[in-house]
Amino acid sequence: MTEGGIRTVGVVGLGAMGAGIAQLAIEAGFATIGHELDADAGEAARVRITHFLARKVDKGQLAAEARDAALDRLRLSSDLSELAACEVVIEAAFEDLAVKHELFRALEAVVPDETILATNTSALSVTEIASVLELPERAVGMHFFNPAPLMPLVEIVRAERTAAPVAAAARAFGIALGKTPIDCSDTPGFVVNRVLIPLLNDCVRVLDEAGITPEDLDAGMKLGAGWPMGPCTLLDLVGVDVHVHASDALYDKLREPRMAPPARLVRMFKAGKLGRKSGEGFYRYD
Ligand code: 3HC
Repeated sequence: MTEGGIRTVGVVGLGAMGAGIAQLAIEAGFATIGHELDADAGEAARVRITHFLARKVDKGQLAAEARDAALDRLRLSSDLSELAACEVVIEAAFEDLAVKHELFRALEAVVPDETILATNTSALSVTEIASVLELPERAVGMHFFNPAPLMPLVEIVRAERTAAPVAAAARAFGIALGKTPIDCSDTPGFVVNRVLIPLLNDCVRVLDEAGITPEDLDAGMKLGAGWPMGPCTLLDLVGVDVHVHASDALYDKLREPRMAPPARLVRMFKAGKLGRKSGEGFYRYD
């Protein structure tokens, strides 16, 4: 199947990443079904998407009619069987292998054989996720970056049994969403997180080793290394929980000490200081 064959897109899980991916899909002209078990969480995603599209209208980046048409393309559902209409489904659910297995089994039971099942996993193995499928060749990784509507990259992850036309279709679909795809194998952390996760862990360790403030570390990496935002701001954006989870998953696989989450981040995670989403991380948010 080519991207030209995709008309309806499913997104399962409408957290920050899922909502961002759904926003991309409706802006690119695809009818989009966003699946959330919890109707309130689904509505919260719609509000979030509406807000960001409204900002684009305010700033003259999007016509009001185009915004309205995009929002009309978004349908919310808490019934997985409605995804039977989709040519591609992107799973952006909680990063837990058992959760993803259950979802992939349930999805395969409702969608046609030709439907591509993509996962936005950041640190789990796409091959392992796909292992519960009758047709594992239909599974592929499409790894977007936070914030999904703004970050230009998508990693197209070929699992052990991904069919070549499926990877090609995912790549073409990524381009249709306005992204620049890179092709990768199903190695731990793929490309970017393999590098970025230990780097962010190093940054947090430097905080304690050098006895500096998050503000100064952020200023250092922005002004001295050209980062678009400092590491503490970035961790607050990504979510301390998401980062700790991804670090644990990579450490499990690679056993490199730098992959393990630093004690300071684990403490923040346990205290519920998760960053923007909880109102406090390295910084406070109102
Ligand atoms: N979704 C949709 N739209 C958003 C958004 C979001 N989450 N966040 C902001 N926007 C919109 C807003 O409307 C905003 O405009 P407004 O403030 O006037 O309302 C508009 O985008 C522009 O935002 P900014 O002015 O903040 O844009 P910047 O030019 O400052 O760039 C950035 C923001 C692109 C996030 C830049 O700071 C950047 O590149 N930061 C680094 C991010 C990064 O490294 N991400 C990767 C994280 S790792 C990861 O995702 C892997 C995963 O597996 C964990």
